[in-house]
Amino acid sequence: LNYNVSRERRYILEVLFNGLRRLEYRGYDSSGIAVDADLASSTSSSDGAPYAGVPPLVFRQEGKIENLVRSVYAEVDEKDVNLDAAFSVHAGIAHTRWATHGVPAPRNSHPQSSGAGDEFLVVHNGIITNYEVLKETLTRHGFIFVSDTDTEVIPKLAKFVFDQAHDEKGDVTFSQVVMEVMRQLEGAYALIFKSPHYPNELIACKRGSTLILGVNELSGQNSGKPFHDVKALTTNGKPKELFFSSDLCAIVEHTKKYLAIEDNEIVHIKDGSVSVLKFDKDKEKPASVQRALSVLEMEVEQIKKGSYDHFMQKEIHEQPHSLTTTMRGRLKDGGILLGGLKEHLKTIRRSRRVVFIGCGTSYNAALAARPFVEELTGIPVTMEVASDLLDRQGPIYREDTAVLVSQSGETADTLLALDYALENGALCVGVTNTVGSTLSRRTHCGVHINAGCEIGVASTKAYTSQIVAMAMMALAIGSDQISTQARRDAIISGLSSLPRNVSEVLKLDVEMKDLASSLIDSESLLVFGRGYNYATALEGALKVKEVALMHSEGMLAGEMKHGPLALVDENLPIIVIATRDACFSKQQSVIQQLLSRKGRLIVMCSKGDASAVCRSGSCRVIEVPEVADCLQPVINIIPLQLLAYHLTVLRGFDVDQPRNLAKSVTTQ
Ligand code: G6P
Repeated sequence: LNYNVSRERRYILEVLFNGLRRLEYRGYDSSGIAVDADLASSTSSSDGAPYAGVPPLVFRQEGKIENLVRSVYAEVDEKDVNLDAAFSVHAGIAHTRWATHGVPAPRNSHPQSSGAGDEFLVVHNGIITNYEVLKETLTRHGFIFVSDTDTEVIPKLAKFVFDQAHDEKGDVTFSQVVMEVMRQLEGAYALIFKSPHYPNELIACKRGSTLILGVNELSGQNSGKPFHDVKALTTNGKPKELFFSSDLCAIVEHTKKYLAIEDNEIVHIKDGSVSVLKFDKDKEKPASVQRALSVLEMEVEQIKKGSYDHFMQKEIHEQPHSLTTTMRGRLKDGGILLGGLKEHLKTIRRSRRVVFIGCGTSYNAALAARPFVEELTGIPVTMEVASDLLDRQGPIYREDTAVLVSQSGETADTLLALDYALENGALCVGVTNTVGSTLSRRTHCGVHINAGCEIGVASTKAYTSQIVAMAMMALAIGSDQISTQARRDAIISGLSSLPRNVSEVLKLDVEMKDLASSLIDSESLLVFGRGYNYATALEGALKVKEVALMHSEGMLAGEMKHGPLALVDENLPIIVIATRDACFSKQQSVIQQLLSRKGRLIVMCSKGDASAVCRSGSCRVIEVPEVADCLQPVINIIPLQLLAYHLTVLRGFDVDQPRNLAKSVTTQ
């Protein structure tokens, strides 16, 4: 071999491990990797390619990525083989899993295998809905299933197809095998196949779930990478690194050139060159597709913690900047310019109803937007949690505008609700942080919130940017109304000064840490809000619940007397949001009623209002800068985000990967 084998092997492993680390933020409970076994020690090869028929090395582990890393290197030590001799890797696959079918355990982790010899290995995102039928058939053909996953049917089906084709025709290509597998699979998936029958080849395909191909042409400064000299990874003499990933975050440090693979496309990497085929179940032969690469607008810094201890902390403190980028180039000459909506504004104005659809924090952001969208557009707004809309099959009409809000643009329920709204003929508008996401591709039009990559599982900066994006959307839709011109001007000027006010409210960090330390042993926390800040109450409580693992409920203050009041005593901490807006006096009266029942109150009010909200001085006060009333939720959520963050750290929990939660819930 004429290249440095040992550097290469380590390099492949480290690239894969690092990729998994970059995906850690999305939540996972197990991981796995498959790399080619080295043959240098057995037969030799003139070009260093792995050999047909030699089983790859496969490792699977439960828990943290570092468990997997340790187990791979430990295996090498244990057998007392030199790493150089253990691996000669040209193409590897790796996966983090968030359990849906089957508990987190090595046997349920991916790559899933066709059986002995690992003739076909598959990593899979998504859900195979007809796996039971396939499993039954394959079992009848003698396959023995060892996992509880739906995924296991895929490599076994590939092996079945491969064997059959071999028996019938004698020869079959990797893409023919994969196409036949696709023909039989139902459900959602992004898949990568690896097989020792096809050394130096990988195949990826998708339907529903996201899959990206990153292409790095090694030249100039990065030509020093270990693969620079490898013939097998060159096309037209140019060395290349090729990456498949479900998430751009895992490839951004290697390349900015990528291809968002589309549904039913099969991407075949063979000897370092790429071909894209379009699968059509009615056609024997797939069409070959020519696709141009896109350039990723993301900086590596976005996926690093910098000087912060946690991503959530970094993202909270980043908000003056993320809000600035959300608004950049869009507040023009006293008006609003939203390129992605321009062509559709007339249709939206004519719609009978706006239906907001989302999950989790994105739903809360839409709820925060509801009052000002109604006010500025005059169109009634209804709110839909995506899963509930699907459960009820709630009515959606052609005259509706459905606004689908999703940070990732990949949440399964939101995407299914999108399909449902499309089927019912509604105009579908996407509000997402992820350029190239399924949501942004499938909606008719939309607004990118441009908050930058969000890594912390608990959404923070995306929430505030979503609200601001929807404020701009409401201003744009309502821009034909003369009667609200002065109000719109005030909001636009409020938007311009918002980043400055966010910087101001972030100074409460130390105070929120102190508040957190006083709440550290509480079992529960209530948050009361109303009007513009009902959503703030829900979102503040959600943050505390999801990261600090403390029971917490956000409540409509107007409902206080209809139940929650019964919970009030001197121990249960209650946060009341009482910043200046049309509901202020009502909130003052809520505070009095809670105090008269000896409630343990923490009141959030506008700067200078401490004595107005808490005359007797018997409650703790958080003073925040006052901004245009409808933008106040952007300010008010920030102390609650800081509180949730500090509570989590003080209680000793994992801030960026809270127990049982995933950043992006891509399965139903
Ligand atoms: C998960 C995340 C939440 C997020 C929700 C919706 O539950 O943990 O932080 O708000 O999904 O995600 P989306 O990407 O659609 O905004």
